[in-house]
Amino acid sequence: MRSLISILDFSAAEVNDLVITAKDIIDHPEYYREKCRYKKLATAFFEPSTRTRLSFEAAMLELGGDVLGFSEASSSSAAKGESMADTAKVLSCYADIMAIRHPKEGAPYVASNNATVPVINAGDGGHNHPTQTLTDVLTISREMGRLDNLTIGLCGDLKHGRTVHSLVEAMARYSGVKFMLISPEELKIPGFIRFNVLERYGIPYEEVSSLEEAMPELDVLYMTRIQRERFDCEATYERLKDSYILDAGKMNLAKEKMCVLHPLPRVNEISVAVDNDPRAAYFRQVLNGKYVRMALILKLLEEAEKNPVRQTVDTSGYLTDRTCTNPRCICQVEQELPHLAKLTDPRANIYRCIYCEHKV
Ligand code: CP
Repeated sequence: MRSLISILDFSAAEVNDLVITAKDIIDHPEYYREKCRYKKLATAFFEPSTRTRLSFEAAMLELGGDVLGFSEASSSSAAKGESMADTAKVLSCYADIMAIRHPKEGAPYVASNNATVPVINAGDGGHNHPTQTLTDVLTISREMGRLDNLTIGLCGDLKHGRTVHSLVEAMARYSGVKFMLISPEELKIPGFIRFNVLERYGIPYEEVSSLEEAMPELDVLYMTRIQRERFDCEATYERLKDSYILDAGKMNLAKEKMCVLHPLPRVNEISVAVDNDPRAAYFRQVLNGKYVRMALILKLLEEAEKNPVRQTVDTSGYLTDRTCTNPRCICQVEQELPHLAKLTDPRANIYRCIYCEHKV
């Protein structure tokens, strides 16, 4: 049995297969209409969502399955102190597969180590959002006709933007991909992406602060919201919130053949005047999310049927004497979770928390 916690849980070939299946679903929806008859998806959302939760639910319904779940922590027994591990065991009694969104980084990973059905990470804090990445990869493939030889601009809150982290991990595996990282100094991409992905694999990237300067080079512009809910200091958010606003003037600087993506929701970082530009792909991206989640549900259920046993985690190589200090990590709130660290960069002797990937 497999889960999807990080986009790196799937090889590039598996991601490509999901893109192919999603395109087949778009072309032949009737073939898939009964594929999940009598199967149930649980959506356990401890944090707000419009697209991810509803696209998962629409995906399961269009496959002929059923859905159950909750959309806020306050209506679940987490409000009474139930742990993530116990919640995962309980949901496994009711559903064949579950999608979990949680504000604490690493929560879906903890769930996957305790569930007896596949777990999908539907976004954990400022860490990862692998199903948004599947959506983004499908969208880039459909809009640009390729996934290689692209210059991809990521603009906005690259520190807290979990969609950015997962997208870099996924797109770094295609040849000829270059990243332009466009952000204010305080919101630069975190170490677990910079060192574990970009530096480790020698992926070309530039860090710039000007969207206007980057614009003419880009094949894909991935705009993101400044994530107010992840800031420790409201004054810092207020200072940075309007750092980048994409408008018609800036679109005039872009290539004729390029696409603008945004995981949404947007606040004001893309002017509505851009919506009518044919290069604005973010609402087509929303629809792609449903199709690729259909493909993902099919894949994980098929694999669970073939191999229903959950893989046990081998913790023998992990350090137990280092404490994770990331306040957004699941290990900060679930006191019985052991603090475990794995070696991610042997040359620099860097260890990272197994839940949130912060340096410890
Ligand atoms: N893109 C995304 O995750 O949107 P929601 O927060 O609405 O699910």
